[in-house]
Amino acid sequence: MDKQILLDVKNVHNAVSAEAIAALEPEAKEALNHVLNKDAAGNDFLGWVDLPTRTDVALLADINASAQELRKNCDVVVSIGIGGSYLGAKAVIEALNDSFAAYGHRQNGPVMLFAGQNIGEDYLFELQDYLQDKSFGIIVISKSGTTTEPAIAFRLLKEQLEAKIGKAEAAKRIVAITDAKRGALRKLADEEGYKTFIIEDSVGGRFSVLSPVGLLPIAVAGYDINALIEGARQMEAELTKPAPGNMAMLYAATRNALYRAGKKTEILVNYNPKLHYFAEWWKQLYGESEGKDHKGIFPAAVDFTTDLHSMGQWIQDGERTIFETVLSVENSDNEKRIPQDKDNLDGLNYIADKRIDEVNKMAELGTRLAHVDGGVPVMRVTIPAIKELYLGQLIYFFEISCGISGYMLGVNPFNQPGVEAYKRNMFALLAKPGYEEETKAIRAKL
Ligand code: PA5
Repeated sequence: MDKQILLDVKNVHNAVSAEAIAALEPEAKEALNHVLNKDAAGNDFLGWVDLPTRTDVALLADINASAQELRKNCDVVVSIGIGGSYLGAKAVIEALNDSFAAYGHRQNGPVMLFAGQNIGEDYLFELQDYLQDKSFGIIVISKSGTTTEPAIAFRLLKEQLEAKIGKAEAAKRIVAITDAKRGALRKLADEEGYKTFIIEDSVGGRFSVLSPVGLLPIAVAGYDINALIEGARQMEAELTKPAPGNMAMLYAATRNALYRAGKKTEILVNYNPKLHYFAEWWKQLYGESEGKDHKGIFPAAVDFTTDLHSMGQWIQDGERTIFETVLSVENSDNEKRIPQDKDNLDGLNYIADKRIDEVNKMAELGTRLAHVDGGVPVMRVTIPAIKELYLGQLIYFFEISCGISGYMLGVNPFNQPGVEAYKRNMFALLAKPGYEEETKAIRAKL
């Protein structure tokens, strides 16, 4: 492998020593062994560990073929899903898309839109209004097949598509990704004769971006899912070795050392706005995996330099309970230099002829030095470029690190019992059949 993502932890010694991190290596190794041997809590949700090597040519070809059909027949494809059934695809597509693709600029195929990730009435109204005169298709994704947000969006869009092109044609433009047997979406898809892809039982939502859940929307958007999987495979080969030098063990050990030293919040930082949604995906991965039993590092994210002008003050000078992990992209795709200006009224000639990326890199370096001096430990993950291969590497790196880190924290990283609390209350408030007792109880509280 010539190039790959790399982790650098040398700027955390303002809070934890190299020795303190090394002392956690045996714990990290034990945690990785639990992930690999499937012998600890949540062990029935470890199907993602060898998913890259298990994803065969036939599945990738099937996904690519379905993607081609949607690309051929649709100007717009709406991917419906929430949480793990949304964020991975959104993260990769936003990273690879032209920044102005939403306005039709250098669009790499159909316009990709997302729905079912909120219950915003205006959002759904405006989406349906936009779709009125568009030729559109739908990818509907729900592992459980019963999640309320995507179910509402799908009911609306399915009805709209059927009214527009008829039930039989609509069925050809809908692809469902769900459980092999269970759930309302499976039943509906089978009855309507939709093309379906399966989410394996052992792959939880937030670990599912490298399954059809992420791969189909990414392929529809025109990106190379084979390269994405290849990148993940490279990391699978490297990071499943419980040996010194394992980057995932190092990341997990370092963040746990920092947590134990009172650093309770990790901020994922990017200097490239294309990675904004990658941080949203990462927040879900770590938040849902670690935030339980009243424990867990709070995963936050900022886009720099944008947020240096909003959150910069807090990070530099606020309560010293934070650490940063910086996603540092080595090479931009395009070259743009700052022009010379003979009048120099804006005083910028001192950086004339420099690439914008060089200025950004100096902002990054300057910020790192300032934050380290200000008592913020800073880890750095370098990414050679924003390409499918490296995004695949990054995804797998964060997934396996998350499993290791969660076990080190002493929680089951693969369940999400806390997510149910709001659903129970919402169903009770909406008087869902089967929730009669809860409805009575909650109404008495109001
Ligand atoms: O990671 C998870 O398990 C969750 O975030 C789910 O992905 C999310 O709740 C959506 O669930 P489903 O795919 O069952 O609709």
